[in-house]
Amino acid sequence: MRQGKARTHTNIALIKYWGKADQELIIPMNSSLSLTLDAFYSETQVTFSKEFTADSFYLNGAVQSAAENKKIIQFLNRARKLGKTTDFAKVESQNFVPTAAGLASSASGLAALAGACNEALDLQMTPTELSRFARKGSGSACRSIFGGFAEWQKGDSDETSFAVPLEAAGWEKELAMIFILINDQQKDVSSRDGMQRTVETSVFYDGWLKAVNEDIETAKKAIAQKDFKLLGETTEANGLKMHATTLGAQPPFTYWSPNSLVAMNRVRELRATGFDCYFTMDAGPNVKILTKKNQVPALIEELKQTFSPEQIISAAAGPGLEIL
Ligand code: DP6
Repeated sequence: MRQGKARTHTNIALIKYWGKADQELIIPMNSSLSLTLDAFYSETQVTFSKEFTADSFYLNGAVQSAAENKKIIQFLNRARKLGKTTDFAKVESQNFVPTAAGLASSASGLAALAGACNEALDLQMTPTELSRFARKGSGSACRSIFGGFAEWQKGDSDETSFAVPLEAAGWEKELAMIFILINDQQKDVSSRDGMQRTVETSVFYDGWLKAVNEDIETAKKAIAQKDFKLLGETTEANGLKMHATTLGAQPPFTYWSPNSLVAMNRVRELRATGFDCYFTMDAGPNVKILTKKNQVPALIEELKQTFSPEQIISAAAGPGLEIL
């Protein structure tokens, strides 16, 4: 029996990953840039044993369905190949996300699984190798190997597509993200399906690709210069461009719900009153607000006029992969 356990934190993209050039290897169409956060994380233990007769996956103690298992089993197959073993595995993952938050956890979940497999099978991967490995489980997972800011350099092959930490001289510690949880029930389009439909059918996808490289460069410049306004404006504009592509897809779709728009407008209003705050959204209705840590208490007070306290969660910059 061989066992490994790892913890990784969720990251939120400031410049989004949206579209795959290679579905199998998860090579993206564009580079992306993220901030790893401290508030949400996954702890994953993997056990490989000759005694198991199948792979199994438990999330927060509950055995998962075949559909959920698919991504995990594909990833375990990659790990087995690298570790030269045919043993089945048991994956036990805990997601430390406030209940009912409905926040995607594939980034932290798959990054933690990559770290746990590395330990269990003694694969001795470097952080770059781990980032490449995690990428093949879920694209955004490659950025969660690192703390603070990370850039996923798209590359054009398995070898050249991985995330690198972006040195910000500690500036990330002055920043924060406030999550507005919008729990409206609506039919989900997973990020995986949504981005594929967009790449294949959206009349706006070319515009996205034209814009995103410049957004990455601007965001990197903003980080290097510790220019919050520039980083915030670039983040907000990039997220809006990503979401615009979904409206041009066939069939069209959107991740926005009426309350997402309420939250976005609230952010604009608060900005007009002097707060440093900008929003972004991912493949769901929640709105994430990039701000400065020292403004978080006052911002939360303001947001409570529109949203219930349970809908508001704040996070600061978090660490990279930890072996447990
Ligand atoms: C909108 O990493 O979940 O959150 O690679 O198919 O597993 P797969 O997709 P995933 O997509 C994340 C998309 C996003 C933007 C981002 O995190 O960059």
